[in-house]
Amino acid sequence: MGAEAYAIQARNVKKHYGRTKEGPGLNGLTLNVPTGCIFGLLGPNGAGKTTVVKILTTLLRMDEGSATVAGYDVSKEGHLVRSRIGLAGQYAAVDEQLTGYQNLEMFGRLNRLAKKHASRRAEELLTQFDLTEAASRAVGKYSGGMRRRLDLAASLIVSPDVLFVDEPTTGLDPLARQEVWRAIRSLKEAGTTVLLTTQYLEEADQLADLISILKDGRVIREGTPEHLKSSFGGDRLEVTLLRQEDAVEAERILRGIGGASVVVDNSANRISVPVSDRTGSLLKAASAFADSGLEPEDMVLRRPTLDEVFIHFTGLNGVSNKEESR
Ligand SMILES: Nc1ncnc2c1ncn2[C@@H]1O[C@H](COP(=O)(O)OP(=O)(O)OP(=O)(O)O)[C@@H](O)[C@H]1O
Ligand SMILES: [Mg+2]
Repeated sequence: MGAEAYAIQARNVKKHYGRTKEGPGLNGLTLNVPTGCIFGLLGPNGAGKTTVVKILTTLLRMDEGSATVAGYDVSKEGHLVRSRIGLAGQYAAVDEQLTGYQNLEMFGRLNRLAKKHASRRAEELLTQFDLTEAASRAVGKYSGGMRRRLDLAASLIVSPDVLFVDEPTTGLDPLARQEVWRAIRSLKEAGTTVLLTTQYLEEADQLADLISILKDGRVIREGTPEHLKSSFGGDRLEVTLLRQEDAVEAERILRGIGGASVVVDNSANRISVPVSDRTGSLLKAASAFADSGLEPEDMVLRRPTLDEVFIHFTGLNGVSNKEESR
């Protein structure tokens, strides 16, 4: 095991696909991932998550910048980096014809373990990921959650210091997602540093000790989930409207009451603002709504969600966010 304080450090990493110096890719990415944590790289489609994973796992070369993984230079010591890492890709790499056991044994052999050792490791991992009952079934018959767990197991054949997991639960149902979460938490407990990418706020909130929000190939916000939520303001007053046509007036009222920003979710007829004076703001809003003849369906005080942080900073679809400059 490396004794570095940071399992992963990336400095101003740039990568541009094709010939342009602008556009998709990475535009100067900096990351510090402390050893032993679960680190969430959160971003919408095309933000550059898979590109980061490919560069840090030496599958792709960066154009500029530098990075170390487990203490080794990604550009100059690729083979040493590869000897310390595991990668569970966005698309599972297991063979459907083989059984779970055979897949793991094969990965062990590919990783140059002796047959006996590969076999023992396969058994251990099947137990760890709760797959012993399914061990002799062809993977083609596994459920999505079982496949992801097998994929995770395969990436752990040689007990890596750092594990990269690209979108571990995309397309899984809630139960399968929780199984995978449990598996990832157990890896952290065993001392593995995990960098996971996800588009799901809830996933990052549940799993990650630290989060970087990625947009257009850059880190736009980082911190603990709690820190990110509180950086967005404290409690929020949220109003759900009965009628969409009330949205403009409701937004005006809340803008007058709220702190730094208003988030309008048109698809859900919902508007929220950060408030410092909880009950006072609630009362003010209720009386302003009554004065304007607006009848909200619901009006509550609550903590901000990571969704709001994400939507606010990435400016995602269907939702507008507006800075108030007061
Ligand atoms: N081989 C490639 N050639 C050209 N452009 C690419 C290539 N791979 C990725 N891109 C572009 O680079 C950007 C970042 O892609 P990347 O796959 O890293 O995003 P992502 O955050 O993993 O997205 P997703 O959530 O969809 O997996 C995107 O705009 C993508 O279209
Ligand atoms: Mg991706």
